[in-house]
Parts: sequence; C-alpha cells; structure tokens
Amino acid sequence: MRLAFRVIREQSVGSTNDSAKQGGMQGEPEGLVVISRTQTGGRGRSGNMWSSPPGGLYMSILLRPALRPNEVLRMSVFSCVPVGLAIEKLTGLRTGLKWPNDIEIDGRKAGGILVEGVTRGGKLDFTVVGIGINANAEPPEDEAPNAVSIGRMLGKKVDLDELADIILKEFETFYDDLKNGTLRKEFITRSSVLGRAIEVTGKDIELTGIATDIGEDGSLLIRGEDGQVIEVLSATGISLMILGRRGSA
Ligand code: BTN
Repeated sequence: MRLAFRVIREQSVGSTNDSAKQGGMQGEPEGLVVISRTQTGGRGRSGNMWSSPPGGLYMSILLRPALRPNEVLRMSVFSCVPVGLAIEKLTGLRTGLKWPNDIEIDGRKAGGILVEGVTRGGKLDFTVVGIGINANAEPPEDEAPNAVSIGRMLGKKVDLDELADIILKEFETFYDDLKNGTLRKEFITRSSVLGRAIEVTGKDIELTGIATDIGEDGSLLIRGEDGQVIEVLSATGISLMILGRRGSA
C-alpha cells in the first residue's frame, strides 16, 4: 500500500511524537511525518527521557493501521526492521535488533523506537511511530553507557535527510508486512536476543531464561530455568538485559 508522506521539519519541538499525535487528533491522514533538529522533551520507552541534541535524527510517523489496540506491540517491535534496513542501506553497517525496540550496531544501542497508540471508543484510532537515532550525536555516557552513534562506527558523519528519506521508503515498502506480522522473519534474522540468556524485569515480571522466539504479534518467548516457556506480551515498563554482555539494559 502506498503511503503519501507529508514531512514537516522543525528546529526544535518538545517531542516529535507529541507533534504527530496532535496531527492525529486533528484528523490528519496517515503519512504525516514530523522531523525535528532537537527535542526539549524527547521520550523513550518506560517513561525514560531521550536526550536529543543536534546531530541525532528525531522523527515521528503518523499511521492509521486497521489493527486492534492489543496489536500495537506488533507495530512497535517490527518497526525496528525498516529502520535497521535503512541504516544498513545508507552505511553498509550491519544492524542488530534487540527486542522490543532497540537498533544496535556491534551490540551497542544506535537508536530506539517508541510507538504510541491512541484509541477512540475502544478502537485504535492511530499510532505514532517515533524514531530516535544516534546518527552524529551520542547521549551522555552516564545516561546511556551502551550507546554509540552511527557516525562514530562509520568514521564519518551521516546525512540526516538522506537517512530520513531511506527510512520512509523502507516503511512504505514494508507497511503491509508490518501490519500483518510477516516482518517477523526479518526481525528474527537480525535479532540480537534470540538464543541468548536474558533477564527480563518489569512491574509484574522478573525472569531469567533463554529467548527462544518472537511471535507474529511481536511477543517474546522465553524458556525459563524450569523449562516452561513464557510469552511476554507487552513491552511497557519492561527492561531486557542480555546476560554476559557488557553493561546493557
Ligand atoms: C527508546 O529506545 O526508549 C525509544 C526512543 C524513541 C525516541 C524517539 S525520538 C523521536 C520520537 N519523539 C520522542 O519523544 N521519542 C521518539
């Protein structure tokens, strides 16, 4: 399906997710894209802040997929695929995807995705796919010790406009697969978590085991130490650590 993108470029906003959400509330059709040079209130998952200095890519895409509210996890997890592919196309660097929303290069976080769904009358009205990439700027070491910028890994700056363009092209190419869950295979190919010993913690969960699979709904399957397989169906408030890897959470 074709997505008619309409890109709004800003110098500074609170959060591009909030700007795109505002558009969604005002009835903008899907395809609205907000890109800002900096954000003063950038948000990450689980209520974390997302440090947004100039040099990073901060963009949000308004989408209106015909999905149920409980299918937003799929959008959220599989949106990593077009972003990872775009980085690979632009730079030639191989990306890894760490469930639920991290884009990694060489095991270090180069970007993250925050998908927010807005419901109306119990139905999903729209989603906003927020993409933050450490393109030519890195967050402070004390905030994100395992982060890296693409520029550092590449040894030269990346063109932010070109990166944004390729990301949008990849979203357009894979939009149907993103909605129906068939991007799962691509996610699995790039997963930096499957087959690894991990620890998952959240409000109602504390689990150590081996990550065994990703469901079509975006869920993570973990085989616990007792052999039982647990399905993690929500990424909200969840933190995942790959055991034995240097300082990642
Ligand atoms: C994460 O890894 O925690 C997700 C980070 C998502 C950050 C992006 S930057 C553009 C958009 N606007 C925001 O406020 N957040 C997302």
